[in-house]
Amino acid sequence: MQEIKGKAQVAELIRTQRATRQYSQQAVSEENIRTILNAGRRAQSSKNTQPWQFIVVRDRETLKQLAEGGMYAAHVPHAAFAIALVTSEAGRPNFDLGQAAAYLQLAAWDLGIGSCITWMHYPEKAKEVLHVPADLEFHVVLSFGYPAPQEHPQPPKKNGRKLFDEVVHWERWS
Ligand SMILES: Cc1cc2nc3c(=O)[nH]c(=O)nc-3n(C[C@H](O)[C@H](O)[C@H](O)COP(=O)(O)O)c2cc1C
Repeated sequence: MQEIKGKAQVAELIRTQRATRQYSQQAVSEENIRTILNAGRRAQSSKNTQPWQFIVVRDRETLKQLAEGGMYAAHVPHAAFAIALVTSEAGRPNFDLGQAAAYLQLAAWDLGIGSCITWMHYPEKAKEVLHVPADLEFHVVLSFGYPAPQEHPQPPKKNGRKLFDEVVHWERWS
C-alpha cells in the first residue's frame, strides 16, 4: 500500500506547481505515466459521470502535429508526453475536465514532472491528428516532462498569483 501523503505536502505541491514549458530530455517511465493517469481518472465529476477520455501521446512526430492545433503550443513537441482530454459534450463536463486536469498535473508534480495546459484553438485540426470523432469535444492538451534545469530556478515569492485579499471575500461581496 502506498504511503498516504500529508496535508502539508499537498499544500506545498499546490504552492510550487507552475506551468512548465521547457523540458529536459529525460524520458518519463510508463509506470509514472500510469500513476498520473490514475490520479486523473479518480477526479470527481458531476453525478459521477466521469465524462473524460485520455489519449496519451509519446510519439514525437504526433506531438509536433498536435502543436499545430494550438496558437500557443510551441512547447508541446518538446514534451516527454502529452495527454489529450476528450469529452462528449461542451458545458458542465468541461468543469469536470478541469478537475481531472488539476489531479493529473498535481500527481505529475508529486513525481517531479512539470506540465502545461495547452488550448487547442483549432480543435478540428487536433481531432484529425488524434483521430478523435468529430462529434466529441477536444480543446485541451496537457504536456508533461521533467523541467529543464533553467525552468523556474527560483519560485517567485508570491508564486505568480494575486494576493489573498485581492480574491477572497468573507461572508459577502466586498
Ligand atoms: C484554460 C487554460 C488554457 C491555457 N492555455 C494555454 C496555452 O494555450 N498555452 C500555454 O502555453 N499555456 C496555457 N495555459 C497555461 C497558463 O498560461 C498558466 O497556467 C498560467 O499562466 C499560470 O502559469 P504559472 O502557474 O506558471 O504561474 C492555459 C491555462 C489554462 C487554465
